[in-house]
Amino acid sequence: MQAKILIARAIFSEVIKRLSDHFELESNQEDVIFTPEELRQRLQGKQGMLCTASAKVNGDLLAHTPELKVVSNMAVGYDNFDLRACTDHKVLACNSPDVLNETTADFAWALLMATARRVTESEHWLRAGHWDRWRYDGFLGADLHGSTLGIIGMGRIGQAIARRSSGFGMQVLYHNRSRLLPEQEAAANHARYVSKAELLGAADHIILVLPYSPNTHHTIGAAELALMKPSAVLINVARGGIVDDIALIAALKSGKIAAAGLDVFENEPKFHPEFLTLPNVVLTPHIASASRNTRLAMANCAADNLIAALCKGRPQNVLNPEVLT
Ligand code: DGY
Repeated sequence: MQAKILIARAIFSEVIKRLSDHFELESNQEDVIFTPEELRQRLQGKQGMLCTASAKVNGDLLAHTPELKVVSNMAVGYDNFDLRACTDHKVLACNSPDVLNETTADFAWALLMATARRVTESEHWLRAGHWDRWRYDGFLGADLHGSTLGIIGMGRIGQAIARRSSGFGMQVLYHNRSRLLPEQEAAANHARYVSKAELLGAADHIILVLPYSPNTHHTIGAAELALMKPSAVLINVARGGIVDDIALIAALKSGKIAAAGLDVFENEPKFHPEFLTLPNVVLTPHIASASRNTRLAMANCAADNLIAALCKGRPQNVLNPEVLT
């Protein structure tokens, strides 16, 4: 008998087709964002779920979904999973890492360049019909070439971001839970490990690419913003909650830092309305991994994990392998 799974959000039709070869499916192609109660209802009688960060998998849900065996995130981040609760309920949790590293690194650079060189701000001004002459001081921004890049969170995406900086002749500083191996530092444009405080004080541009957890909540708050250069540009392609958005708004308004490029927000898709009033921010709707190829690869990776877990044995990307033993 085929296992039953829930596809909790809309995904590519070719991935649904693949999954239908293995499972009996319930698919939310209408892309309704389920309430916790709706998610619980939909999961009755299901052994697996393919989901995104919008599905909160916690002890409360798992206590009411006794047949569930595997939850597979179409995301590298998994802060929507309570891993301990998954393990306690013997539910395998999987994510979809690696396939998005290069695309996300590309986007971090797009956001950095747009923010440092005031691309969206000047475009809005042009579209509004204000451009009547060239000026020596029109939209002066910050140079990337020859500057110091600080990366907080030096996993695979952080290293891919660092590699790209060699073309700009930049010096790279990084801060991370653990130091990279010397050969990894060399490959990451000779990135140098420093304390968080040193990085904040020395970097011209800072990119955040660390996972969200209670330990990384508000990694950047008022105290950290106060350490940055007044000319600093801050980029967040990691997760909302890593930055204290209210403290950031205050820093951007008072000139404590120059500008910010944000792809993620606290409480997204809601975000603090004051961001919309600030000229020195570039705001994007959590699209760092959004190239067609990469989003398809992420969906296929999440599907592979489900197929392996329920039909074959061990999936490639297990977050709580202790469930298997
Ligand atoms: C990820 O993979 O974690 C991206 O942020 C998409 O949610």
